[in-house]
Amino acid sequence: MPIIKDMDLKGRDFLTLCDFNRDEIEYLLDLSSKLKKMKKDGVIWEPLKGKNIALIFEKTSTRTRCSFEVAAHDLGMGTTYLDPSGSQIGMKESIADTARVLTTMYDGIEYRGFGQEIVRALADNADVPVWNGLTNEFHPTQLLADMLTIREKLGDLKGKRVVYFGDARYNMGNSWMVAASKMGMHFTACAPDDKYFPDEDLQEKCRIWAQESGGSITMSKELSAADGADVIYTDVWVSMGEPYEKWEDRIKDLMPYQVDSKLMKRAADHAVFMHCLPSFHDLETGMARDLHERFGITEMEVTDEVFQSEQSVVFEEAENRMHTIKAVMAATLGAVL
Ligand code: CP
Ligand code: NVA
Repeated sequence: MPIIKDMDLKGRDFLTLCDFNRDEIEYLLDLSSKLKKMKKDGVIWEPLKGKNIALIFEKTSTRTRCSFEVAAHDLGMGTTYLDPSGSQIGMKESIADTARVLTTMYDGIEYRGFGQEIVRALADNADVPVWNGLTNEFHPTQLLADMLTIREKLGDLKGKRVVYFGDARYNMGNSWMVAASKMGMHFTACAPDDKYFPDEDLQEKCRIWAQESGGSITMSKELSAADGADVIYTDVWVSMGEPYEKWEDRIKDLMPYQVDSKLMKRAADHAVFMHCLPSFHDLETGMARDLHERFGITEMEVTDEVFQSEQSVVFEEAENRMHTIKAVMAATLGAVL
């Protein structure tokens, strides 16, 4: 069982890992492990009884919504789910006014939606912690789950080599680069063109953090980037909120960077395959069947063989969303173990 160090994150927002240092991230991961063990042991811990949180989702979700709801319930809190059509946000009421209203009723606010500036504006105008449940630019709660999974499967994060294939320019690519640079990991984004690499200003910041942490940041167009890697990561090629028309170019550009068993063989024998999910690895979804009809492909960013393989830890990652989100809420709402 990890030792929980003294760390006061009470009142802090959780908008991007850029705002957190290595010790704080380690603390959240240690707390997540502890909360996971307690859950498995059937220990009831409801330190936040009587509190309530608002969950704003301007984009759809399975894992993130369920994780916030279950974790809040486990901690003793009530939740209100606001979907895009079920509130006035953005249409009839500004983010600033929404934040001021929700602050009067809730003890914390989760936001999933579009630009990072929206969640930042929410946080600037709310007196309670605001948690980012995914924006176009960042998905920080996913990264906590990913890092917890790596710690469980491969041990210490420091020095681990993570190679991210495909569309690395969006929330997951950016977030992985930040996490790796803070935690002393070696991060490589592997894609066919500069336009698929993470934001350049962010790259600069991350290179400085990586220098301090002993990690590194590399942009590569070569599949050999996978050689000896500890973690092979990918995400969907077209993200929520992007126009459907993007699929054609993305498939053309990114198909050579699909994670298949040949690519996995380049990685270390102990390497794990990771994906934030949902994933297009078969034809079991309406969207996949539609794309199959239009472009004739049956799998996209990862083959079904790799997705279903022993190296794949995607469902452990999904479970860890709940334990890590619980840790973020407990820590920022001042629940101390
Ligand atoms: N990984 C993730 O955020 O999943 P959902 O979109 O289902 O929340
Ligand atoms: N990049 C994906 C991540 C989903 C969890 C998206 O934004 O749709």
